[in-house]
Formats: sequence, C-alpha cells, structure tokens
Amino acid sequence: MRVVRMTAVAIAAMTIAGTVESATGALDLMPVPAQLELGASALVVNDAFTVVTEGQGAGPRLDRGVRRMLRRLSDRTTLFFANATFLDLANHADPVLVVRADRIGRVELGEDESYRLAVTEGGIRLEAVTDIGALRGLETLLQLVVLDERGVSLPEVSIVDRPRFPWRGLMIDSSRHFMPMEVLRRNLDGMAAVKLNVLHWHLVDDQGFRVESPALPKLHELGSDGLYYTRAQIREIIDYAADRGIRVVPEFDLPGHGTAWLTAYPELASAPGPYEIERSWGIFDPTVDPTIEATYTFLEVFLAEMAELFDDAFIHIGGDENNGKDWLANPEIVAFMEANGYHEPLALQRYFNERVLAILTRNGKRMIGWDEIFQNGLPKDIVIQSWRGRESLYESARLGYSGILSNGYYIDLIHPTSDHYLNDPLPADAPLSADESARILGGEATMWAEFVSPETVDSRIWPRTAAIAERLWSPGAVRDLEDMYRRLDRVSLRLEELGLLHERNRPVMLRRLCGCRDTAALEVLLGAIEPVKVYNRGRLRAHTQFSPLTRMVDAAWPDAEPAREFGRAVERLREAGVTDVEDRTAVRRSLEIWRDNHAAVAATLTGSPGLTEILPMSAALAEVSVIGLEALSVAETGKDITRDWFEDRLARLEAARESHGQTELVVVDPVVSLVCVAAGRLAARAEECRPADDAPTAAGH
Ligand code: ACM
Repeated sequence: MRVVRMTAVAIAAMTIAGTVESATGALDLMPVPAQLELGASALVVNDAFTVVTEGQGAGPRLDRGVRRMLRRLSDRTTLFFANATFLDLANHADPVLVVRADRIGRVELGEDESYRLAVTEGGIRLEAVTDIGALRGLETLLQLVVLDERGVSLPEVSIVDRPRFPWRGLMIDSSRHFMPMEVLRRNLDGMAAVKLNVLHWHLVDDQGFRVESPALPKLHELGSDGLYYTRAQIREIIDYAADRGIRVVPEFDLPGHGTAWLTAYPELASAPGPYEIERSWGIFDPTVDPTIEATYTFLEVFLAEMAELFDDAFIHIGGDENNGKDWLANPEIVAFMEANGYHEPLALQRYFNERVLAILTRNGKRMIGWDEIFQNGLPKDIVIQSWRGRESLYESARLGYSGILSNGYYIDLIHPTSDHYLNDPLPADAPLSADESARILGGEATMWAEFVSPETVDSRIWPRTAAIAERLWSPGAVRDLEDMYRRLDRVSLRLEELGLLHERNRPVMLRRLCGCRDTAALEVLLGAIEPVKVYNRGRLRAHTQFSPLTRMVDAAWPDAEPAREFGRAVERLREAGVTDVEDRTAVRRSLEIWRDNHAAVAATLTGSPGLTEILPMSAALAEVSVIGLEALSVAETGKDITRDWFEDRLARLEAARESHGQTELVVVDPVVSLVCVAAGRLAARAEECRPADDAPTAAGH
C-alpha cells in the first residue's frame, strides 16, 4: 500500500465537504451515509492489499463477506492480491484494512446495522457493533473505490452510518413466473450491495404454489407444474440471505388469490370447483372457506411446517384482494356470516385472520399482511404492509400498529426512478407523533411477476431499487434527483459485477428479435420508448403465463436514459430561453438521430411480429423528431408562426402518444415543450403547454 497526498487540483476536483449532501457531488455512494466527511488525501490500493478481521463478531460470516469483497475488488481493479490476502484474515503485521465487529448479529428486525468507516493515510478501519453492520460497511468501502489517472484509490473519508428504517425490503413474486435459484441468489447479492435487509418471498398465488410441503404434498405436486423450491433449496436461499444479513419473509397468500391452494385441496374451497392453476392475470374468485374447521386443521399442519422451515419471526399471510364473491354465493357461508353478525366479507375475513393469527402465534411467529388484514383489536405486534396508500399506514400507526410502505414502490408498474425515490414512508410533514412515527418501520419494493421472466426480471428491479434502498436507508433530506441519477448510473454498472443481468440481457434480446448482430437502430429506438405504465400492459393485450416476454416492450427500459436526458435539456431551454449552445446542440443531435433512425429500424424487420408491431413507434418517433427540429429552429430564429401551425403540430404530437406493442413514446412531452417555446405568446393559454401531472393509480396483484 502506498498513501499519496493529493495535488491541489485533485483536491478541488473532489469537493471538500463536511456534509452529506454536498459530499455526494464527488462520490458514488448509494445509499448515501448518515454522516460523511471527506478529507484531502487518498489511499492508493495496490497488490499488497491485506485485511485482518477482529473482535467477537469476526466469525465465519464476516470472513466470507470479506472474501467476497476482496474478490470484487480484485475483479474490478484487476489487482493481483497475494493468496494470503484471501486465505488468511488473521495474521498480517500491518494490514491495510482492519474490520472489527463486536458481536455476531442476529438476522432479525431491528438488529444493529451501524458501522464506522475511516479511510486515512494510515489505512482503512471499519468498525461495527455487529458483523452485519460490518458487511454494510464493506459495501460502502467497495463503492468508495475510484479508478482514475492515479490508479486505484480510496478517498480519505470518515463515515458514521446507520439506517433510517429497520425494514428495507424487496418482494419477489415467484408465483406468476417461477424464478430459478440463480435469480434469487444474484438479486440477494444486489440487495446486499445497496443495504436492503428483507427478501419478501411471494411464494403462493393463483398461478403457482412454489414451496415443497412434505406434509401436504398435493400443494406442490398439483399446484406448481413441477416448478417449486424444495425444502433444501429454500434453506439454501435462507442461508445465502443470512450470510448477507438479509431476512427472508415468506408469503403464503390467503384467503383470496387461492387458486393454486384449491387446485390441490378443492375440499377447502368456498365454491364447488374443480380448480386448475390460473394462467392469466387479474383478481380471481377462488377463496378458501373460512367457516369449516378443516381449513384450520389444514393450516395448522401447513403453517407449522413453514414455521419450522423459515427462520424469520414473521410469516406473511397476504390477505389482499379477496373479493368475497364465492363466500356470498355459498349459502352455508352466508348462514355462518349471519349467525355471527358478519355483515360483509371483510368481517368474515377478520374472523379468518384471527384464526390464522392464533396458529402463527402457537408456532412462535408474528403476522404480517397487506392493508386488508388490518383491524383494530388485533395484537399490536402484527405488521401492516400498505400497498394502497400511506393514509392506511398512518391510520394503523395512530392505533398502535407497525407498518411498512409499498405503495409508491411498485416497480412492476414501470414508473421512473424519481417517483420511487421521492416517495418517503415518513416525510417531514407526516401527521404523526414521534411514537407513531417510530411505528413506520420502512418499506419494500414489490417485483410482481406477471410481466417478467427470469431473463427480464433484473431489468425491472435494477437499478431503480437502488434508489428505493437509498430512500429507506439514508437521511430523509437526501433528495437531489440529479445527483441520484448520476450515482444510480454508476451503481448500475457495479451491480453488474454481481452477475445481475439488467443491462446485459438487453442486447441479447434485441439480437434474438431481429436475428441479426447489428441492433444499433433498435437500441436507438429503445432510447425514446418505454413500456406502458401502471396496469395498462395487461389492459392493452391479454397475456397469460405462457406469453412471450421477449418483445421490444420487454427489452425497453422503465426509465429510458436518453429520453430523460433529452427532456432535461429541453426543460433547461424552456426555462432559460434557447440561448444555451450546448443544450441546443444536444437536443438537435438527438432529434436528428431519432428522425434518421426509422429507415434503419425498417431495415431490421424480419417476419417477427415483435418487430412489426414496433414499426409505427419508430415512424412516430421520426415524425415527432421532425416537428421538434422545426420548433427548435423557429425558436432559435425567432420566426413568427401561425396559430394553424401551432395547432397542427400539437395535434400531430397528440396522435403520436398512441401506444404500439404496449410501448409508449416518452419524448412527446419534451417536443410539445419545444413547440410551446417556438409558439411564444400563442402558447400562453394552450392546455398542452402546461406541465403535465402524472396521476398514480392503484389496482392489484
Ligand atoms: C397487491 O398488490 N394486491 C398486494
């Protein structure tokens, strides 16, 4: 190791700062630490790197974590560390890095994940109360590594870090599309890299029962098409997660979303059946009968088995979107409701929840469920996962219940990263007392899997979930969108070193679509289109479990970077007038590329319907770009335009919003802005020239 003093120029380039917000201008950390001080020197890392672990918490888990860190450090930097660096974490006279953990952490809610990381001229010191905290610090250390003209170095920093919220999760739906083991492993690595600490595993839904149950074998035999996790595989995932300080909370969705359960055990259903695994998407009627004792005898067996298999204190019982139709259509269930004074299905569901809760409690587990499970009077140690809105979360917090937020973190709905990032479970103006606020435990991104396959799932999770991870870990004041996007771009590349396929699979998918090697034109088109948002994909075209997820809509980014950059440059021109030469040049260049791209897209057409359906998007992009170029030159020259011109261009832009192949053109709004700028006074009263509002919608899974 060599420690260098930075030159004055390099120091200036790094931004000297004592505060988190200004310091992120120079560093690529995500999540941003609670406290960070940046010094003026740097530590150059070379082949002689060595590590020592120490303290009561320096057990096998920490050693494995350190070795993974070394592997990534060596792979990213191409430094050749000595074998002893990997093999011996105990005996180095003057180690570059000392990792100290005072005790072994428990993989449970509320465990201490704090750490202190100091990089100085003398080396690196990472200290934590628990080995889990030390693992979090090792991720920060890897994010600090800089490769530049000086070679490999870490800036001098002093970091004191801890999470803002104790529950920071990612839900993965393995039911709608089965997710093989490697999907889970690589996503657990990604989660660890951004300090998420809960994998919420949605294992059961109408479309598949994904966990082996030796006690009730028809569940996995009849409910899964043979696509389920064996008990050994479940244990492997739990251990893999625990090795990274990540809890695994399984979800067994009940009493609605019940088709797969009832395919196996129709005698527990509210309607006669028979049942088959559901192949399409939506909200379905099959529901467990909560009025017969056989249901609870069955759940006693099943939940006891699962309570033994899964380590975590929580079991998620779903509880969402039970429409009650099959209950109200069954005279015996209606009679039960009348006899017990249950005037609506929700009241019966509450009875069911209480029975399930009793079973969980007997098995030493706590209950978590979606909004719908909430009812005042249940024990206060249940946790509510709010998917329908923050208000229900706050309402339950006021009544003494803990909760986590998922509304606003539905990454399957293809919202831009910025929306998720600014969605705070507990904004500064939240109408809660300090005690009530403490019940807001955090949040979870939800990767519902109707429209993702093992090939595309990473691209829907990453990199956007890194921004959600920051929202849940970092101080609430860290909210600068521009800086977030800058860091997200860096983090996205680093997530690739963990084997995540969010970037890597796109070119593969394009090559398969066109059966060709030159996919440049399709790449350009993808820069200007995105998948349709919210629940529109399913509305625009019926999909089933067997539909191809290999079309342009699947290759498209949820938050296309070229379109975003274009939009930002247009926004600056709109605000400042078209005086900035750099922005003008960039906007013109993008429009010219998009205008000229159409012929190249047309040339890649094969017989593939997946390409044919996208051709109108390419044509629309060309037309929109021509309008944009025209508007830009009007704005630049100050030429007068007529109202007819203005209205004609706005009408044509409106027409270009039509989706094709379940994609939408995301550069229409900025081009409308350009037309508005060009139209000057004419635009003052035009509805189209006002900034658009994106109204969020709730529907379900
Ligand atoms: C849900 O989206 N139905 C929880």
